[in-house]
Amino acid sequence: MDFDTVFLQRRSIRAFEDAPVPSETKALILQAMLRAPTAGALMLYSVIEIEDPALKSRLAETCDHQGFIAKAPWVLVFLADYARLYGYFEREGVGELCERSGRPLLAPREADLLLACCDALAAAQTLVCAAEALGLGSCYIGDIMENWETHRELLDLPRYTFPVTMLVLGRPTEQQRKRPQVPRLGAGLVVHTDRYRPASPADYGLMYQREGYGASVPGGEARTRGQELYLRKFAAPYSEEMRRSVASMLEDWR
Ligand SMILES: Cc1cc2nc3c(=O)[nH]c(=O)nc-3n(C[C@H](O)[C@H](O)[C@H](O)COP(=O)(O)O)c2cc1C
Repeated sequence: MDFDTVFLQRRSIRAFEDAPVPSETKALILQAMLRAPTAGALMLYSVIEIEDPALKSRLAETCDHQGFIAKAPWVLVFLADYARLYGYFEREGVGELCERSGRPLLAPREADLLLACCDALAAAQTLVCAAEALGLGSCYIGDIMENWETHRELLDLPRYTFPVTMLVLGRPTEQQRKRPQVPRLGAGLVVHTDRYRPASPADYGLMYQREGYGASVPGGEARTRGQELYLRKFAAPYSEEMRRSVASMLEDWR
């Protein structure tokens, strides 16, 4: 495995060569994914491979109208999945155990959802690295957390599952391979020692100011770069939809 390629040169890829990903390549990458760490070895996640082109196109629309999703050769939805384990408990007579021993019958709560999300994301990122090592590019689609009710119906999702992320993968086009990398905050801001160190005024002066964070310049209603970033990302309609969708899913989960 080439450390530079997999980690230091990686960038998100949003345009792919037309060719499908060979099934042996997929199988190898999925094998790597299955070796990802998983809480209690319980594997609290599932992956739905989207093969139906009509479904891909629909997801491209429901995930904030991102057309490149429909053209991606390999599309995977990662579910936080407590349905499988809870189904096993039911099948194994946990209800009977609780009745017999006078225990309350517990159901998955918010903590279980978070743990299942951790599992799903560990699996997704392992898959990203494996794919990168074999020459494939990828892009996360966080917008799969929007429109929960629609996605539940489209993907036949049972209770105690949640699509926490989606990945699109394929061979990068030449243009995507050469695209400049998006900058990052430095380790000094991100990595703390022993205790949390809040960002200083000097840190804030430098944050998100470099080119590559999109058109982060004041304009319209915004008078500072931070105001522009707030309007463009945090207060964007897709962020509001994600908040609504996740709150609605949580109601159901509870
Ligand atoms: C949780 C998560 C959600 C993301 N969702 C999207 C998305 O919906 N659409 C998209 O084009 N990129 C998405 N990305 C990719 C980021 O935009 C990308 O990682 C970031 O801009 C940095 O660029 P780089 O990965 O090329 O270094 C997502 C990344 C993460 C980790």
